[in-house]
Amino acid sequence: MISWVMMMMISCRADEVDTTLGFTDLPFNTSYYHLHKPYDLPETQRYSFAGGVHRLWVYATDKPYRRGSPTKPRTELMISQVVVVAVLFVVVTWGSSVNGVVDVLDPTCGFTELPFNTSHYQIHKPFDLPVAQRYSFVDGIHDLWVYSTDKPLYNGSTTHPRSEIKIQGYTYSSGIWQFEGQGYVPKGTNGVCIMQVFGATRRATSLMLRVYNGSLMYYQRAVIVPEIFDRWFRLNVIHDVEAAALEVYVDGVLLLVVADHGGKSHYFKFGVYGQNNMSDCMESRWKGIRVLYKNVT
Ligand SMILES: *[C@@H]1O[C@H](CO)[C@@H](O)[C@H](O)[C@H]1NC(C)=O
Ligand SMILES: *[C@@H]1O[C@H](CO)[C@@H](O)[C@H](O)[C@H]1NC(C)=O
Ligand SMILES: *[C@@H]1O[C@H](CO)[C@@H](O)[C@H](O)[C@H]1NC(C)=O
Ligand SMILES: *[C@@H]1O[C@H](CO)[C@@H](O)[C@H](O)[C@H]1NC(C)=O
Repeated sequence: MISWVMMMMISCRADEVDTTLGFTDLPFNTSYYHLHKPYDLPETQRYSFAGGVHRLWVYATDKPYRRGSPTKPRTELMISQVVVVAVLFVVVTWGSSVNGVVDVLDPTCGFTELPFNTSHYQIHKPFDLPVAQRYSFVDGIHDLWVYSTDKPLYNGSTTHPRSEIKIQGYTYSSGIWQFEGQGYVPKGTNGVCIMQVFGATRRATSLMLRVYNGSLMYYQRAVIVPEIFDRWFRLNVIHDVEAAALEVYVDGVLLLVVADHGGKSHYFKFGVYGQNNMSDCMESRWKGIRVLYKNVT
């Protein structure tokens, strides 16, 4: 156990800079919050609420918010159903070496990669078109595009057009699951979801990553990456079902920690799914798709 912990510390080490972003002032009902604190401590040791003041504190030597997480200690309020939380910026030096130790924050650290091949792809596209008119797979790159005037997935459906890959065979209801992929969004694409965690209570999704005004956003609520067009980025999305928490990493940097929306059955999807204010054409490209899992015992 001790050697496992030390290994995690070495291979998952990263320097962090405390910066916050995306705090939004909203009506706040305590029944909607969710506290993230060192996993081995009771709430009262890192949080108090008195006289209308939420007090949150944490020590550098504290444990992370969930067992096995490579992230630094935190005490944060997650505002479920409302918005983003605190957003951590982590300064990561890929491949830099100190005393022979690679100093990299790899979100896949401690996870097991699951077997993955074309049998795990299910393509969702306009019902009246053949797959080849809205999807191609060349040189390891999945290219998915759709037009705002395209038909929905099913004849008679009122949903917006989409060209998406649903990852099948890995529908989950417990544990910690991770999606990894390299994504690319060409300039001009707007009003579209490019990746989602399907499954929630009283709605369809627990997470949507959308593109508006050239930014990668959490639904329409918070900017995750201000400028996302015309470059490859590495995306890691971690869903801890028991903690009801989602983490989004872009290029190895943890940028969003947010509550999920409940639900008992989840899977990952990526591609393009039209939302409000769609551009005429919407497109995203993907490579290096991986699905990973971590047991929480
Ligand atoms: C794809 O992976 C599954 C395991 O999830 C395996 O059973 C199947 O044989 C594989 N198919 C191909 C074509 O490799
Ligand atoms: C869609 O459904 C309508 C009503 O059932 C039918 O008239 C129409 O032919 C269908 N369109 C296609 C392209 O299948
Ligand atoms: C995109 O920009 C327009 C114009 O500035 C603004 O009205 C709109 O709210 C922005 N969209 C999002 C989702 O922030
Ligand atoms: C709609 O999208 C276009 C880009 O396609 C953008 O210029 C415009 O500001 C957006 N409008 C709103 C209301 O978000």
